Amino acid sequence: MSAAVLFACILYAKSADLNSDKQALLAFPASLPHGRKLNWSSTTPVCTSWLGVKCTPDNSRVHTLCLPALGLFGPIPLDTLGKLDAQEVLSLRSNRLTVELPPDVGSIPSLHSLYLQHNNLCGIIPTTLSSSLTFLDLCYNTFDGEIPLSVQNLTGLTAILLQNNSLSGPIPDLRLAK
Ligand SMILES: *[C@@H]1O[C@H](CO)[C@@H](O)[C@H](O)[C@H]1NC(C)=O
Ligand SMILES: *[C@@H]1O[C@H](CO)[C@@H](O)[C@H](O)[C@H]1NC(C)=O
Ligand SMILES: *[C@@H]1O[C@H](CO)[C@@H](O)[C@H](O)[C@H]1NC(C)=O
Repeated sequence: MSAAVLFACILYAKSADLNSDKQALLAFPASLPHGRKLNWSSTTPVCTSWLGVKCTPDNSRVHTLCLPALGLFGPIPLDTLGKLDAQEVLSLRSNRLTVELPPDVGSIPSLHSLYLQHNNLCGIIPTTLSSSLTFLDLCYNTFDGEIPLSVQNLTGLTAILLQNNSLSGPIPDLRLAK
């Protein structure tokens, strides 16, 4: 393979990644009512002009998605945000999200900060949470059941906020990172 072809392949692989992030993002508001308008469009650049979206320094992947208090209403659709597999920070706090937290979102391997406080999420806290998590805020929702023992395995965790839910059972022995 010539250097030029190889270079073209690398470029293609990169744009395919950002493009798949873009498709995953576009599918999210498409299946979720929201109060305020998201100015996301397939014709504008994701990394520099989409509300709430930040990319990696080389603009090759979506790194952060922050959509607080946008009136997002209803269940977080499966197979949308969970596909953003370079994402490190996700905030959907202070919306009106309902039903459970899809397991594909909490388990994104690169995810280190997840802010979902002040919603109406319910059901159990998924047992398969990303081992990269350092900050998890689920307070002011209606999660029930027990706190999964698997949180003990989140060795990088510095804070986990769970107040104002309907959780029961023992509090796992957390070994929070300093
Ligand atoms: C979308 O909104 C953000 C924040 O208000 C703004 O910075 C950005 O330029 C807007 N993008 C477009 C395409 O209008
Ligand atoms: C924690 O991790 C260990 C090693 O990977 C695994 O054997 C164990 O089942 C995990 N515990 C929980 C509660 O997920
Ligand atoms: C938080 O939980 C406490 C105790 O159950 C309750 O009294 C309070 O109203 C709750 N606050 C909110 C904002 O839901």
